[in-house]
Amino acid sequence: MQNRSAHQNVKLFLGESRCQKGIFMKNMLVTGGCGFIGSNFIRYILSESDFKGRIINVDKLTYAGNPENLAVIDKNFPDRYYFIKADICDRQAMAMVFEKYGIDSVCHFAAESHVDRSIAKPDAFIKTNINGTFNLLELARFHKDEIILFHHVSTDEVYGSIDDGGYFTEETPYHPNSPYSASKAASDHLVRAYGTTYGIPVTISNCSNNYGPYQFPEKLIPLILLNALEGKSLPVYGDGLNIRDWLYVKDHCKAIWTIMKNGKRGETYNIGGRCEMCNIDVVKIICNIIDKMMPEPGKQPRRNLIVFVKDRPGHDQRYAIDFSKLQKELGWVPDESFETGIRKTIRWYLDNKEWIERVKSGEYVSWIKKHYNFLKTV
Ligand code: NAD
Ligand code: TYD
Repeated sequence: MQNRSAHQNVKLFLGESRCQKGIFMKNMLVTGGCGFIGSNFIRYILSESDFKGRIINVDKLTYAGNPENLAVIDKNFPDRYYFIKADICDRQAMAMVFEKYGIDSVCHFAAESHVDRSIAKPDAFIKTNINGTFNLLELARFHKDEIILFHHVSTDEVYGSIDDGGYFTEETPYHPNSPYSASKAASDHLVRAYGTTYGIPVTISNCSNNYGPYQFPEKLIPLILLNALEGKSLPVYGDGLNIRDWLYVKDHCKAIWTIMKNGKRGETYNIGGRCEMCNIDVVKIICNIIDKMMPEPGKQPRRNLIVFVKDRPGHDQRYAIDFSKLQKELGWVPDESFETGIRKTIRWYLDNKEWIERVKSGEYVSWIKKHYNFLKTV
């Protein structure tokens, strides 16, 4: 690893962002910034928040990463936005990023994020989500004197399934059920341990299911939305009664920035939408809205395209987040309801057909083909 003082010479910054105790973030490393939530976060933090520093986005560009998501940002913020294609598992490459850009804060999104893929092939999940996070933490440890904050973006899925009508709080014991959630749980534990053992200022957020612009169409909402627009069948796993707590992605981004600025170091914050819905209702709502927005006289209502398919193995029944800690301590609440958020989302997909066409080529097509071939219709 290189000498840590070397980066001081190349530490350039245009501004600074106040966070708690008068500390400032100037050079923020965002990992996985070309993915769904990461790209929404970078757009939000540069265009709409009070952050004044630079964003250094490191992304490996897996099938889920698309630099096109940030083309406008690249153009509009030439002195404040930098993109580096690299793997967070590559210690040498990441060490160079820390040195060259004088990284003083980290917002860590990069992950393999799709449960079904983790069931089919878990290897990359262990590598990126666990080893990759470990790598970044080691670099944060090496640069401990400069690191103001390491924020780790995680999921409510680490808590497992809550079937008894209760809610996940920050005290709920971890009980992950898929290779994806187990790998995220492992990374959460590592982050917390580095905070406790080495004194690195860390925060962790565990958020419920997101939806919104730029989501890769393998997850429920964009997959259903695009299939409904194309008149294709709408696959619903099992009986469709599994419950998720949906949050519009921009609300998640605002919550993360709120925690980064004012969250207590060493703490975990749950983020949710207070919006529990079973899958079949989500699918029917999307169909009804599209039927109204894009009427096709003489054709059947789109909900007739619903097909119940074989269930996902180990499918968690219900996720439900209690975010009262974040609300009480930091004053965050979501701005969007499901009604407003889903309409914005559908409108975005209707207005961005070229993005959809490009994303739907190549890897995406082969994944869908392979995946839905092994799911038998019941
Ligand atoms: P995504 O799959 O859309 O994006 C992940 C990004 O990480 C991609 O750009 C990908 O190229 C990049 N990446 C993957 N492996 C990498 C590696 N080894 N090195 C560098 N970059 C790599 O995921 P998302 O939905 O945007 O989720 C982002 C984060 O938020 C994840 O950590 C996920 O666990 C968490 N999260 C997601 C949700 C959700 O509903 N999508 C909810 C809660 C938490
Ligand atoms: P998903 O978007 O994959 O998110 P997660 O598994 O992380 O919650 O799935 C959301 C819910 O929708 C989950 O209960 C599985 C279900 N689902 C379907 O019914 N059909 C689908 O085609 C997909 C992708 C998911």
